[in-house]
Amino acid sequence: MLTAKSGLGVKIMNKKISFLLKAIFIILVLILYVFATNWFFNKNVSYTNNLSDKKTLIVYYSHSNHTEKIANMVKQHLNCDVKKINAEEYENINAVDLTNLVTEQIQKNYLPKTEKIDMTGYNVIFIGSPVWKGDLSLPVKSFLINNDFNNKTIIPFYTFGGYVDKSKLDNEIKELSNNDNVLPSFLTVNCKFTFIEYRLIRWLNKIHLN
Ligand SMILES: Cc1cc2nc3c(=O)[nH]c(=O)nc-3n(C[C@H](O)[C@H](O)[C@H](O)COP(=O)(O)O)c2cc1C
Repeated sequence: MLTAKSGLGVKIMNKKISFLLKAIFIILVLILYVFATNWFFNKNVSYTNNLSDKKTLIVYYSHSNHTEKIANMVKQHLNCDVKKINAEEYENINAVDLTNLVTEQIQKNYLPKTEKIDMTGYNVIFIGSPVWKGDLSLPVKSFLINNDFNNKTIIPFYTFGGYVDKSKLDNEIKELSNNDNVLPSFLTVNCKFTFIEYRLIRWLNKIHLN
């Protein structure tokens, strides 16, 4: 026999199940929306610029591959050379240890040793960096300080995880490379919601080289 108490229990259970089903439905609709809009946007934009006319090189640093992903997307459209900045001291350490190490190094004004990258013959240099502590990553800072950017056009791109002041990074690139010829940069968080490919192609199409 169904008592009033157990009847109330069934009602509450039914309400919970119906709430859960609604939540699952909304999540599925959202996922579908993101994939559909990504597909739609990407389908309706294509790379039409011709940056490959100039001798172009992409140089980037990446610890957890987000920046590398962007470097590869640029390469896919430009079909140009790519070089990764290697910084041995950050290899094989997790994000927490890396953050602690970098915090300490920034306090000490320390920059890691990075191998020299030969940029002879390249006119246009894309430079990719993750954002570290609101700043360029230390390997990219080293790279900018230790290489000659005379007569080169620099095009930066950055990946970040939370908040960043893009103009601060752009100014830092100019300062450390000792070169004012820095074109508008691309900034992205690593997330499907941000339509990365679509925004990247629009950015590439807008780049105008003299
Ligand atoms: C040491 C460290 C510091 C970071 N500082 C910031 C920060 O200040 N602001 C931010 O938005 N993201 C910050 N992040 C997140 C990274 O910028 C983000 O995950 C980036 O996409 C990583 O790029 P990568 O995978 O190419 O290494 C930090 C990450 C690390 C490891």
